[in-house]
Amino acid sequence: MNNFLVTGGAGFIGSAIVRGLIAKGASRVAVVDNLLTGFEKNLDEVRGAVDFHNVDIRDYDAVRKAMSGIDIVFHEAAIPSVPRSINDPLPSHDVNVNGTFNVLRAAKEAGVRRVIYAASSSAYGDTLVLPKVETMLAAPKSPYAAQKLMGEYYMSVWASCFGLETVSLRYFNVFGPRQDPGSQYSGVLSLFITAILERRTPTIFGDGGTSRDFTYVEDVVGLNLRAAQAPASVSGKVFNAGNGGRITLNEAWSLLQKIEGVSIPAKYGPERAGDVRDSQADTTAVVRELGHDPQFSFEEGLRKTLEWYRGVTVKTANP
Ligand code: UD1
Repeated sequence: MNNFLVTGGAGFIGSAIVRGLIAKGASRVAVVDNLLTGFEKNLDEVRGAVDFHNVDIRDYDAVRKAMSGIDIVFHEAAIPSVPRSINDPLPSHDVNVNGTFNVLRAAKEAGVRRVIYAASSSAYGDTLVLPKVETMLAAPKSPYAAQKLMGEYYMSVWASCFGLETVSLRYFNVFGPRQDPGSQYSGVLSLFITAILERRTPTIFGDGGTSRDFTYVEDVVGLNLRAAQAPASVSGKVFNAGNGGRITLNEAWSLLQKIEGVSIPAKYGPERAGDVRDSQADTTAVVRELGHDPQFSFEEGLRKTLEWYRGVTVKTANP
């Protein structure tokens, strides 16, 4: 059995990968997280099987130490959010670019075999054609998108120059349980779901025709596990980690109202700077080369997520 380390392992996606690894038989998983946007409670269910390192990925020595004896790294640690990177570009650059550089350098030094990287669909920017294929020229529209793209380039270069196997998975708007709705920078579905549960009006930025290939977190976990097992021939490559669908913000809000049996018209605000208009993954390459096999339709994922948030909200309201 391999030894695994997940950077950002206390975060929404990272902790789901940790649980996925343990469910598949890993006896221990190392986690590197500085708890900036992650929470230790995300690891409650698996605490006994996790070696937790409260480490910032910008701290090379600490990252290097945590990687001793590790075979496979899932690099999920990042400061996400397009608008956050526009309002305050320095921290996200530092973590997403310099931190990623540190992770790669430490992985190579520690003799890690493979690094699987949380890349972003934002790298595409606005393309003339949908769905978006990996062979299209990247056209980032925000510091966040440029930073995530730089990480992909570093992944490929570490594979070609330094013999470290790498796989970049371009996530397409991942959603699901444990996504933190607590900030203006939170993912839109976490904000919509908490709004509908509290019977509040959400704000839709733009006309609501903006579309996303919302991908349920368990499908992203499944793909990460496949990327860990894939043959070395995938090394250095970039794959879309999407579902292949396309849902507008208006459709997402309508579906939530239908499921909850309520009518709460959304409020509309100005379009956000740096926003991509449409996003949809072509999944041909990732299905062919990594065996990607998404299990959850948008509605199934949304219902599961809604139930999770409902439980958390009820628990908080009636401790
Ligand atoms: C982008 C990336 C995504 C990445 C994420 C990390 C694209 C296509 N996707 O997500 O892969 O994981 O960054 O942060 O670039 N919105 C509202 N109301 C709200 C909040 C948001 O209408 O209250 C809108 C936004 O303006 C945007 C859409 O919802 O048009 C999605 O926003 P968000 O969930 O923040 O994700 P992206 O920026 O699309």
